[in-house]
Amino acid sequence: MTRTSMIIEILTLFPEMFPGVLESSIIGRAQTSELLHIRVRNIRDYTTDKHHVADDAPYGGGPGMVMKPEPLAAALDAVALDHPQTALTRVYLTPEGEVWNQTLAEEFARLPGIVLVCGHYEGIDERIRTTCIDREVSAGDYVLTGGELPAMMIADSVARLIPGVVGNEQSIVQESFGHHGLLDHPHYTRPEKFRGMGLPEMLLSGHHKNIDAWRREQSLRRTFERRPDLVIAAWETLSRKEQALVQSWRDSEEEGSEDTCPTGQKKVSDPDTLT
Ligand code: ADE
Repeated sequence: MTRTSMIIEILTLFPEMFPGVLESSIIGRAQTSELLHIRVRNIRDYTTDKHHVADDAPYGGGPGMVMKPEPLAAALDAVALDHPQTALTRVYLTPEGEVWNQTLAEEFARLPGIVLVCGHYEGIDERIRTTCIDREVSAGDYVLTGGELPAMMIADSVARLIPGVVGNEQSIVQESFGHHGLLDHPHYTRPEKFRGMGLPEMLLSGHHKNIDAWRREQSLRRTFERRPDLVIAAWETLSRKEQALVQSWRDSEEEGSEDTCPTGQKKVSDPDTLT
């Protein structure tokens, strides 16, 4: 499984925010092994005035500042010049963009490269958005001080999907939102007894087929409890037996059944602890 490495260029006014995240752990290793090329550029380096001004007051008045178009255009030109053979997808991070999810991460991971443009203040001049940006992406329905954290999030979630970046490729398929579209099953490691709590017996059985079936059911149960929308989305991919299981959970929910915590503690969300 070989591919040419992926390019991630990041344009920001705050390059100092990135090294810790991008140089550590799996993403750091992927760069060392040349599966991934990440470069962070300071937009201010592409200003031409004496004071390196990258923002200005908005036309028409109002609060805040707007990132000027010339430095951004110059930075984007420089990126394109550095990668003449690669069509890079230029992505602007904004709460007004498409909300990021695993499907988008998988789509982006198939691209030869992306340029992540981090906005700050009131954002970037609209003329850059309409002429130089291919995609707009939001980290979620909340407002951050800038696009840097979303850029890190995108870089991380895309990079780990590049073949060879995460050691055990099977773990990518098995995790939450992996191909089956459900949340992950619970994981346990040593010690066998922790604060009085043991392990689900099944995991000690050594019977791999049964363990797989148990994990699948746990995954389905957890998804049913926390993200019923995902169970509905995955409905057609569930076996008849699994669909019947979900239906039985629905039925017993309607009868008002209650889960108890294995430690005997009440969950905060239990109505009993709230009264
Ligand atoms: N910039 C500020 N908030 C943002 C968000 N939620 N997503 C992407 N970029 C942002």
